[in-house]
Amino acid sequence: MAFKDMREYLSLLEKEGQLKHVDTPINCEYEINELQSLMRYLAETNGPGLVLNNLEGYNTPDVPILYNPFGTRERTAMTLGERDPLTAKLKHSAVLADQATWQEPVLIDAKGAPCKEVVIEEADIALDKQLPHVWIGKEGSSFVTGAVVVSKDPETGVRNVGWYRLTQLWQCRHPTDGSYTDEQQTKQLSIFAFWNPPMNHIGLHLAKAKAMGKPLEVAVAKLCDPAVHLAACTGTPFGADEYAFAGGLRGSPVELVKCDTVDLEVPATAEWVIEGVFQPDADDVTIGWHSNSVGYYDKLQIFPVFDVKRITHRKDPLWYATIEMMPPFDHNWLALLPVEGEVLSDLQRKIPEVNDVVVTPNMTYIVQLKVDGAQKPHPEFGKFVLHAVWGAAGRWGRTAKFVVVVGPDINPYDMTDVDFAIGSRVQPYEDSIINQSGQAFVLDPSAVKGPQGFPMTGSQIGIDATIKIPERFSDYAPVSKADPEKVAAIAEKLKGVLG
Ligand SMILES: Cc1cc2nc3c(=O)[nH]c(=O)nc-3n(C[C@H](O)[C@H](O)[C@H](O)COP(=O)(O)O)c2cc1C
Repeated sequence: MAFKDMREYLSLLEKEGQLKHVDTPINCEYEINELQSLMRYLAETNGPGLVLNNLEGYNTPDVPILYNPFGTRERTAMTLGERDPLTAKLKHSAVLADQATWQEPVLIDAKGAPCKEVVIEEADIALDKQLPHVWIGKEGSSFVTGAVVVSKDPETGVRNVGWYRLTQLWQCRHPTDGSYTDEQQTKQLSIFAFWNPPMNHIGLHLAKAKAMGKPLEVAVAKLCDPAVHLAACTGTPFGADEYAFAGGLRGSPVELVKCDTVDLEVPATAEWVIEGVFQPDADDVTIGWHSNSVGYYDKLQIFPVFDVKRITHRKDPLWYATIEMMPPFDHNWLALLPVEGEVLSDLQRKIPEVNDVVVTPNMTYIVQLKVDGAQKPHPEFGKFVLHAVWGAAGRWGRTAKFVVVVGPDINPYDMTDVDFAIGSRVQPYEDSIINQSGQAFVLDPSAVKGPQGFPMTGSQIGIDATIKIPERFSDYAPVSKADPEKVAAIAEKLKGVLG
């Protein structure tokens, strides 16, 4: 099933009672923390998505704020028209692996594009008035989240679409007591584009453009059809078109419209589009604090800025605000599906015994096999799988700091089950591998940072929690566990007493 836009996905959530409108006033003023507390509550209770109609303490109170739309694994699966996380993941990984299933996007006329209903030209750009500034927690800035960023390789002209966060510099608190110019605050935005050294695909474009002394055009499309967002946060190969991948995921082409001031294309049904240009000689800005996806505030980061050339949006646009923090949180789940799909897609093509890959909100990778013990194809098979995760294609497998391989009787979504396997099937020295020269996840606060403020290398551990037949045993003690069907039957029988 294909959603035309984010609104259609939200309507489905609403129909199912998974999206609610909140008219109660909530104040999000600087450092008040209301929205961070709300995110914690929603995360702890598998709470619904919200449309906050009466948020106070920000500059554009007429624009409703979408909050927590993706907050569960089920809702994330629903972005692909599924319910079950494994089915959604298998769909994602199958399309990712087979480019013959991708569908090229189509260009439509600007007249039919909802994202162009309102146009703000360059001379009228005043970001302090036009973009909502919602501050959350102790963050030093209001960020633009839920937007895909489009740019083209300055050498080849090949397009990239990635999901990256942007920083608004208006009234931004400078982390080292510096300041931002009026121009920066009202006409420029910064993107989390790690370009020196390049750590994402827009970073590669920017590094090339800077080396060539050329400007780099950019277009930011906020709140599109969810398949576009999923595609944009998947580590597709450099040079592959995420819009075509999104077409494969949704089963029909994404409709694009040309931007007006830059030679780029954006989804026609986006809520907002921001067009701009990175100048090759512009200095990067220092920003912070930013609450990151591993659950810590980054006190200081250095990112590039671009000049905003045009903003277009729908007549009655929605804005999306979210916070990353100590997991889980809203888009945690949406971000994990592509990570899981990416690694699963690579592993299953090489190792058919792999059944599922589950990445926890704290980024522990659990690989569930279809076989265990004597059915394993060869001794030490679990360790072979561990190496395959670190060698998987894409951005993520190589940064997997903790990897656990389990058999089919262990539920990879249940850490108590995984803990059971580690506790009862592992001898630490014999069954783990320590890789001293792994690639660190850029936000890992326990890895030593390089000069640009993020770590590049770190160590990794893999745990083979399969049953060690034939490695050490010919037989293993039977598990003492009640049959789930009988558990359900007795619970039903005693329902009156147990509730
Ligand atoms: C909500 C969300 C925010 C993200 N923000 C960033 C970001 O700011 N910078 C980044 O490098 N990756 C970010 N990611 C991860 C990238 O989207 C993902 O790695 C994607 O594959 C990058 O695209 P690329 O491989 O074309 O660079 C984010 C993912 C999600 C789901």
